[in-house]
Amino acid sequence: MLKEIMEQPQALEKTLHQDRRKFTDIALDILRAGQVIFTACGTSRYAALVGRYLFAKVGRKFSDVVIASEFGYFADAVDKNTVVIAVSQSGETADVVEGVKLARDAGAKIISIVNRPNSMLADMSHHTIHLNCGPEIGVAATKTFLSQLAVFYLLTFSMINSFGKARIQLRDMYSKVAEALDCNNDRLNKLSHKLRDKNDFYYLARGINFAIASEGALKLKEISYVHAEGMPAGELKHGTLALIEPGIPVITICPTDYTYNETLNNAVEAKSRGAYIIAISDKESDIYDFWIKIPQVDELLYPMIAVVPLQLLAYHMAVARGYDPDKPR
Ligand code: M6R
Repeated sequence: MLKEIMEQPQALEKTLHQDRRKFTDIALDILRAGQVIFTACGTSRYAALVGRYLFAKVGRKFSDVVIASEFGYFADAVDKNTVVIAVSQSGETADVVEGVKLARDAGAKIISIVNRPNSMLADMSHHTIHLNCGPEIGVAATKTFLSQLAVFYLLTFSMINSFGKARIQLRDMYSKVAEALDCNNDRLNKLSHKLRDKNDFYYLARGINFAIASEGALKLKEISYVHAEGMPAGELKHGTLALIEPGIPVITICPTDYTYNETLNNAVEAKSRGAYIIAISDKESDIYDFWIKIPQVDELLYPMIAVVPLQLLAYHMAVARGYDPDKPR
């Protein structure tokens, strides 16, 4: 897992070898569709959630993300004017394959985003985008998540005829991801020893970063066996705030983008109940008890940077608690 976390700059570089014409064709299909539905499970679903925000913000195209195991319950609404984007690292996840079968039978156009070109999903799709980031051996998905995000940036910017511009911006991310890894690895190792006996973690973020909160929580649960919840920060006050007690770690993803002020306000609410605020941000604040510094990037690219320390945190927490991250339950 650690190897795959660390090789993300190189994985990203490989993912950017994509065919501009293919992306343009797929982007046109998406723009022309009556409705666009992403379907996926786990980490791939969180990548799709970032894709959804990008489609809306840049492509002005509304879409929805349906959990693959729930897809069948919505299948009556799928028709030939629907584009279904199936996201799956393996291309073999049974729930995703089942959903795609239903969608195909209903006449939908299927686009799959996979890391294995010879997979079932690829065979069932009208178009397949290959992540091309090398095989992922770890059970916990890391580098494929970053590659999925990169594919969504390329696809979204293809909608506004800016594939080339997006690829140039993404190339700048190799060094930014490397920086986020280098400056946080040792510090997160130390933090994990301090937090290893905590039983509940809350992850907060807004807008395009919300999916990263959920992904951070999933990684922690999957390999460290600690209860963790990721949520849109604005939802905190609608119930969960009642669980915030002194010392509870609250991880706040608050880069200086369009979500910054409101997310910071939610961190203040948690802090006023005694939470230990761990912030992932490019800007320091007195509100933070522990600052995880990330480099400044374009505001739509923060998910790619913010997820990196969360992967490291999950890894170090597992090790600090005496578990092997490469052999999760
Ligand atoms: O191969 P897939 O992307 O379809 O797998 C989906 C999930 O099972 C997967 O992302 C799972 O959540 C990861 N192990 C999380 O790290």
